[in-house]
Amino acid sequence: MMSMNRHVALIAGLGVALLCGMATAAVKTRDGSGNPAIAKRDGARVYDKNGNPTFDVKPDGTVDWLTFSGYIRYTANCMQCHGPDGMGSSYGPALVNSLQHLSYTDFANIVTNGRVNVTTSQDNVMPKWGLNPNVMCYLDDIYVYLRARSDNAVPRGRPRKHAAKDAAYAKMEDSCMS
Ligand code: HEC
Repeated sequence: MMSMNRHVALIAGLGVALLCGMATAAVKTRDGSGNPAIAKRDGARVYDKNGNPTFDVKPDGTVDWLTFSGYIRYTANCMQCHGPDGMGSSYGPALVNSLQHLSYTDFANIVTNGRVNVTTSQDNVMPKWGLNPNVMCYLDDIYVYLRARSDNAVPRGRPRKHAAKDAAYAKMEDSCMS
């Protein structure tokens, strides 16, 4: 009798696991912040329905200013460890994959405060950027670029066409960088 019960429990557990597997398989990509669809526009910036920064990629491949700026800032500050286009390297994880489970808040926290992985023998360290304006003034830009890459909305490489920044963005940039 005992063993029978255990058997039934095992089969029920397997059913749940299979259902979860099916649910995951039905979604093409995952996004740690949820649906990236644009719900609100504010000049050069666009937001999803939860208020997270998101990307705006036109059918002809033109990207919004933040996605373009994020590409530039990512390449200057993050690529050396995380590889070109967020694809990862032997030192740092592929952020195109990371953003499939990290939320915007997770991302912002890790970049601001850094992280040390004490479980690896290599002592891989994610530096903290909280005092570096070249990163912190462009945190949303870098996030939006990586979110677009993670959601397969932009290909590898430098975006060929991009929208302009707006006056509000330029003002923020001036005050943040000075
Ligand atoms: C000196 C190398 C280095 C640089 C430069 C660097 N990182 Fe990292 N980063 C790492 C390492 C190593 C890890 C993994 C740490 C760990 O396992 O805890 C990491 C982890 C992360 C994570 C968590 C990934 C995950 O899957 O949990 C994020 C997000 C991240 N980095 C973003 C950035 C961004 C954005 C930049 C540029 C502003 C950047 N990193 C620059 C080395 C670096």
